[in-house]
Amino acid sequence: MISTVYAITLVGIGLVMAVFYFVIINSKKTEADYQSITKKWYGVRSKWFIFLLILGTIVTFASLNPFPIPDQHKEYSSNDYQIVAVNGHQWYWTMTPATVKSGQPVEFQVSAADVNHGFGIYDENLVLIAQTQAMPGYTNKLIHTFDKPGKFKILCLEYCGLAHHVMITELTVE
Ligand code: CUA
Repeated sequence: MISTVYAITLVGIGLVMAVFYFVIINSKKTEADYQSITKKWYGVRSKWFIFLLILGTIVTFASLNPFPIPDQHKEYSSNDYQIVAVNGHQWYWTMTPATVKSGQPVEFQVSAADVNHGFGIYDENLVLIAQTQAMPGYTNKLIHTFDKPGKFKILCLEYCGLAHHVMITELTVE
């Protein structure tokens, strides 16, 4: 093992020396020699920058549409939304009501009484379907429409102390 590391180190030093040697050999050129090269690569660099800018813009819009976080300042009407008040405590959840209907959007108003918790909704196969942070002093709005009835598990997603792992409750969708 030691000899392998030793060999790798020697090869590494050899490579660095080779690079230095190459740079020194090639540093004999004059300023004028570089002008054409510099011009060419500045051009390539500008095109590459514009390409990345356009690509980044497209990827950002495509991946954030629809935007996954609902408007936190909007008042969601209780005619259209089922409102569920959620509070995280060390180490349990309060959730009122704990039963909702499928097919109509639910607005979870999520907060915490003590420390940060993570409000995660899991289906019967324990696949995470929606989540938000539960933070003291804030109410985070999470909107989800359940498309079919079932029993859903609420697990804490943020380590919040000794009994974090038992912070589980159930949500019934009718
Ligand atoms: Cu609450 Cu982890």
